[in-house]
Amino acid sequence: MEFSIKTTNPEKQRSDCTVVGIYESRKLTAAALAVDTAAGGLLTSVLKRGDMEGKLASTLMLHSVPGIESDRVLLVGLGKERELDVAGYRKAVAAAVRALKGTGAASAAMYLAELAVKKVDITRKVAHLVETVMDATYKFDSMKGKQKDDKPKAKSLTKVLLSLAKADIKAGEAGVKQGLSVAAGVAFAKDLGNLPPNVCTPTYLAEQAIALGKASDLHVQVLDRPEMEKLGMGSFLGVAQGSRQPPKLIVMQHKKGKKNQKPVVLVGKGITFDTGGISLKPGAEMDEMKYDMCGAASVLGTFKAIVELDLPINAVGIIPTCENMPDGNAIRPGDVLTSMSGQTIEVLNTDAEGRLILCDALTYAERFEPASVVDIATLTGACVIALGHHLSGLFSNKDALAHELLSAGEQAWDRAWHMPMLEDYQGQLDSNFADMANIGGRAAGSITAACFLSRYAKKFDWAHLDIAGTAWKSGKEKGATGRPVPLLTEFLMQRAAKA
Ligand code: BES
Ligand code: MN
Ligand code: ZN
Repeated sequence: MEFSIKTTNPEKQRSDCTVVGIYESRKLTAAALAVDTAAGGLLTSVLKRGDMEGKLASTLMLHSVPGIESDRVLLVGLGKERELDVAGYRKAVAAAVRALKGTGAASAAMYLAELAVKKVDITRKVAHLVETVMDATYKFDSMKGKQKDDKPKAKSLTKVLLSLAKADIKAGEAGVKQGLSVAAGVAFAKDLGNLPPNVCTPTYLAEQAIALGKASDLHVQVLDRPEMEKLGMGSFLGVAQGSRQPPKLIVMQHKKGKKNQKPVVLVGKGITFDTGGISLKPGAEMDEMKYDMCGAASVLGTFKAIVELDLPINAVGIIPTCENMPDGNAIRPGDVLTSMSGQTIEVLNTDAEGRLILCDALTYAERFEPASVVDIATLTGACVIALGHHLSGLFSNKDALAHELLSAGEQAWDRAWHMPMLEDYQGQLDSNFADMANIGGRAAGSITAACFLSRYAKKFDWAHLDIAGTAWKSGKEKGATGRPVPLLTEFLMQRAAKA
């Protein structure tokens, strides 16, 4: 997709489609008014007929509008003028892209960048637009058969022209760059998530990290089983031992900050398929457990974005990745594992495997003397019950860090909710036979999972994002979302700006 910004007149700018906004009660935006005037009041009369009210995300396509250079004019509803916020803005942009799909339009002049949107500056607003367009045009078809079909392919959108006042163009162009970088990271994370588990194995993830490193200054290292054995990662390797696929520990270092600046460390859960292990999951929707590496994908996506932005910061990405399979050699309920930290763990449910691989990755993070550590994991079904599919669960041992992440999520429109992680819950992890159990019972399942991780994060400021509800969509629109790449990239951009 190509985005460009110029100062243009809606009635004179040529494109396959001119997109203008209509507020509720049929109030025209400035661009819609310009089109209406040039077309001799056509928009006003169409609206009067009641074909469109300006309701948020409604659309109406008009063809061969007189006095207009473009072939089509698309009206997009924006809702109440004074209430247009980021949520509404993104909905309206997505609706416009959907309305263009399946038409013959390959280029669009969108008069939406200049609209007033609550609480965002021009750069952020344009970035939202770009990210939304890229999200709405994302396709995953690399696994479809290659048979030729006779149907002529519908044209798809390839060029978007935005219009801004001269004084705002620079800020807008910064927004395009930022938006495209985030979108590239999101698309990378979506692709990795959507790939089937027989393709996207731990080895495949490691190869992707190495390829990203080759194409940039990112330093990438992959640890294999023998090295992890030497490090004493008994918890991670316990999970991995039931699989034919070799486990990998991927370590990526982006060193673009000051030499003495402590790095931000991101740790992503990379279970490329979670059967539950011996504590086997039920069959329904088990295919979706290919998405159990979406934490890892979000770390890879975020590193792709910060590499593209050449972000001046020191950041480390750590990805423990393996499969969770039932096998003659798999761990059993009752097994006791010794983690790299020395703490022992009684495995009471082999399906609580995410925390078992993350705990060793968190201990490994200590060697980077991190400024902060954030782990990202599709960790608990309980988090989906608590928050549904809109918000990621956020847990932290440091309120200031939690607030930074919450605010980054708000800015990037990739929101999280601060969950409690009181000492009171820790008792649920008591074990009669080891230092702790790997599950804490049914009550507060996402909190006790976070409590488990907190025991391996005592030496640094740490936050945990449970993305079980936000990393992918089920049902007809099944697919990875690329979340929380926007949140993480925004967080790192703000850290870089502060340094
Ligand atoms: N990957 C799952 C969490 C999950 C389940 C995410 C469903 C999204 C949808 C995780 O490894 C898991 O199985 N967690 C268990 C923990 C339980 C055994 C304490 C769960 O949530 O049921
Ligand atoms: Mn599991
Ligand atoms: Zn899992």
